[in-house]
Amino acid sequence: MEDKKIGVFVGSLRKESYSRKIAKELMKLAPLSFMMEIVEIGELSIYNQDLDDNPPSAWKAFRENAKKFDAVLFVTPEYNRSVPAVLKNALDVGSRPYGYSIWDGKPGAVVSVSPSGLSAFGANHHLRQSLVFLNIPAIQQPEAYIGNVEALFDTKGILIDSTCKFLKKFMDAFTIWVDTNALKGS
Ligand SMILES: Cc1cc2nc3c(=O)[nH]c(=O)nc-3n(C[C@H](O)[C@H](O)[C@H](O)COP(=O)(O)O)c2cc1C
Repeated sequence: MEDKKIGVFVGSLRKESYSRKIAKELMKLAPLSFMMEIVEIGELSIYNQDLDDNPPSAWKAFRENAKKFDAVLFVTPEYNRSVPAVLKNALDVGSRPYGYSIWDGKPGAVVSVSPSGLSAFGANHHLRQSLVFLNIPAIQQPEAYIGNVEALFDTKGILIDSTCKFLKKFMDAFTIWVDTNALKGS
């Protein structure tokens, strides 16, 4: 398998974010051919179309850095039944100027995370709606809804075995998805 660079985008800025913890667990389960990195999105100012001709340096750096990714993985909580603004903003910043989207054609995946039993289903599917327009082909199965997340880590912060096994299954499927769908020459 050829090496692949995977950008990981976490929809929470919280220090103790469960979404970030799950993202890190997924990264541990990736094959050696995957070079995965969490992309920090908290410093991106809110997208404003007036700045397209003279973008803030943080937007430029974010867009430039994202060019190297062969695929993208989104791990997100749900805010008010939708995608947290910080993640939606990163999608918007990366999508413009029109015609220069960093996302176009890169295979992706969505993992939603919540302390609730509803598993952030709303955020997962709102995010998928944007991915359709951004032309990020997102893996369909297995769906990854990580619910009741507080109970999934033991007192030492170790992820329980059944969830580890599920994340491994997810990562194996994502690996095949990326290898099959990565843009040629990327
Ligand atoms: C503004 C806000 C809105 C929230 N809305 C939801 C929600 O709609 N559904 C849900 O399951 N949890 C909701 N929560 C609770 C989050 O799931 C919880 O804070 C979670 O730990 C955030 O993810 P993180 O641990 O990755 O930071 C909300 C939290 C905040 C701060």
